[in-house]
Amino acid sequence: PTPLRIGVAGLGTVGASLVRLIAEKGEGYAQRAGRPLSVTAVSARDRSKDRGLDLGTQEWFDDPVELAAKADIDLFVELVGGSEGAALEAVKAALSRGLPVVTANKALLAHHGVALAKLAARKNAVVAFEAAVAGGIPIIKTLREALRGNSVSRVYGILNGTCNYMLTRMEREGLSFGECLKEAQRLGYAEADPTFDIGGFDAAHKLTVLTSLAFGSEIDLESVFVEGIESIASEDIRAAADLGYRIKLLAVAQRTESGIEQRVHPAMVPASSAIAQVDGVTNAVAVDTDLLGSILLAGPGAGGNATASAVLSDILDIASGTRIATLGLPPANLVPYRRARMRAHEGGYYIRLS
Ligand code: NAP
Ligand code: HSE
Repeated sequence: PTPLRIGVAGLGTVGASLVRLIAEKGEGYAQRAGRPLSVTAVSARDRSKDRGLDLGTQEWFDDPVELAAKADIDLFVELVGGSEGAALEAVKAALSRGLPVVTANKALLAHHGVALAKLAARKNAVVAFEAAVAGGIPIIKTLREALRGNSVSRVYGILNGTCNYMLTRMEREGLSFGECLKEAQRLGYAEADPTFDIGGFDAAHKLTVLTSLAFGSEIDLESVFVEGIESIASEDIRAAADLGYRIKLLAVAQRTESGIEQRVHPAMVPASSAIAQVDGVTNAVAVDTDLLGSILLAGPGAGGNATASAVLSDILDIASGTRIATLGLPPANLVPYRRARMRAHEGGYYIRLS
């Protein structure tokens, strides 16, 4: 069978894990896909960096846009990051050639998802993005495929591994905010600019993607209420614990009478609740539906292999010809958005600490 020739742009935490996994477990993937996966082109900024990878056979590009536009590939994987610049231009270049694109880039989708979906539709291509929300948790396929027969009233959870890791370490080890952030960066959980994590923006980006899939609405970043965890100190976490609560950065999207509300903010949740048990880099997504009631999916929300697991699921779908519905292009924005305000989470409290 003909190998699927893959171009991987970005060889950082996720890209390096992906290339390593394909090198190490390629035979198994080939069996599952019915054809071999072959990484034939790669791109990163610094060619001399030791990434622990054997990059002898792949064509090297300094510029991801050039890779996307010129490399002899069947699939473009974008793991560069950022909503503008190289990532955006590279994805546009790949789609313009009609190449399928796999990305883990939620910032890109939150800002340009609708335009990219339209471009993909015009070119008969797809944008697959299982890895863009909640790392390894298969929430995209769950919402888009498994829950199709349901009507969703609310989707919420812990969508940022860095913040949850930090809040857990601050509580358990009594470490400072700054120390925990450094750990999360060292472990490869944080964004290149960690303000996106601690400011709540990364969770907001992910939430917009979930909202679009859950409610069939166009992505709308503008209407998200966003507050991060920057003002939370170890003393606040201890005080909450004394009262029987834990502090979590929650992302919530729900249908209301006047439209869809999206919000990201820290909340005090009862220590006995399921969401309070979600520790460390783990993410959790709860979906409330008419037929199932409430389901909760939990698992590693960041990190190289966890995220590469989701990237691989999209790659294997494309390799084996499994139909991938691309980013939601709703017939119309049937449900309007309303500007959200902070609110208490059920059984808990919204908190503003200064
Ligand atoms: P990263 O470690 O910062 O890696 C980024 C890679 O892109 C690096 O190899 C870098 O090259 C390359 N790069 C960046 N800007 C470039 C430019 N202008 N031109 C050429 N190459 C460029 O990032 P990451 O953590 O792997 O994340 C990649 C994407 O996955 C992001 O969209 C992120 O939000 C998403 N994501 C990450 C995680 C996670 O746990 N880390 C989880 C889910 C989703 P150099 O190595 O030479 O600097
Ligand atoms: N920086 C992100 C997080 C990576 O910590 O959740 C996963 O999207």
